[in-house]
Amino acid sequence: MGHRVAIIEGDGIGPEVIAQGLRVVEALGVPLETIGFDLGGRRYLATGEVLPDEVLEQLRAYDAIYLGAIGTPEVPPGVLERGLLLKLRFGLDLYVNLRPFRGGGLDCVVIRENTEGTYAGEGGFLRKGTPFEIATQGSVNTRMGVERCVRFAFELARSRERRHVTLVHKTNVLTFAGDLWQRTFDEVAAEHPDVATGYDHIDAACIHMVERPGRYDVVVTDNLFGDILTDLAGAVAGGIGLAASANLNPARSGPSLFEPVHGSAPDIAGTGRANPLAAISSAALLLDWIGAPGAATKITSAVAAVVAAGVTGSTEEVADAVIERL
Ligand code: IPM
Ligand code: MN
Repeated sequence: MGHRVAIIEGDGIGPEVIAQGLRVVEALGVPLETIGFDLGGRRYLATGEVLPDEVLEQLRAYDAIYLGAIGTPEVPPGVLERGLLLKLRFGLDLYVNLRPFRGGGLDCVVIRENTEGTYAGEGGFLRKGTPFEIATQGSVNTRMGVERCVRFAFELARSRERRHVTLVHKTNVLTFAGDLWQRTFDEVAAEHPDVATGYDHIDAACIHMVERPGRYDVVVTDNLFGDILTDLAGAVAGGIGLAASANLNPARSGPSLFEPVHGSAPDIAGTGRANPLAAISSAALLLDWIGAPGAATKITSAVAAVVAAGVTGSTEEVADAVIERL
């Protein structure tokens, strides 16, 4: 039997794009044993359950998780994001969110810290609903959490031709968190004299990403900056329909999770118009991680050829075009 992969199709266009990603993997002959998990808006609306602890425990036994998209308009914001996606990221210690971008002058990988920062959920209300209401939302940055992420970025840069890492933060204003990030970055950099380094403030990085995309090789940044910067990078590189991501547990103490960056797009769900390329590229990241780099490279090259050829069509037709070029 092949690698055991848990499939969370999720909501909206999730099932459609995941089906095409799995078709591409099958066309390559990589043996995967896939088991579906019914999680997402549908299950929540039917049962009130988001991600029961027993299900999280079951998922630990898999080699990888392949996820489509989570979210439906009927579920209030935060329920599925925190209760499912972030619970998976935190619970499985998926501390690196790796997002590669090729196109529009970009050839870079953003390493987004994935378990801390403002996403950690520190904060709360005081006197809620009164004119004296206070809401705080803290940013949690641990030395260990920052360092493991920065180390990952430097090791990744070593495997790339340019061997360059840029720290993106806002050290001029976030002087506590920024100081920890900058000091950690400098210390890890000193251990990697073969890797060149740079620093950009997040606001400036947004300009460079658009006007000087060739500036970046590996970018390392905190959770929220990485969230925003990777949507921008996706738009620059050809649209969010192409952007793939890997939520990694580099310690390999459990499965990593692979998902397109885009959401569930309920407005086009079921119309056969969803672009499957982000999901297909996420499958390539999955294969690379579980030890099938040859198959991963074939998919990445085929996707690049499909994009270069300007192929358009239905979800299935675009996947067909990838399969033809494998
Ligand atoms: C992403 C998404 C998520 C995030 C949401 C859905 C919680 O935008 O993966 O980038 O903010 O991390
Ligand atoms: Mn996002």
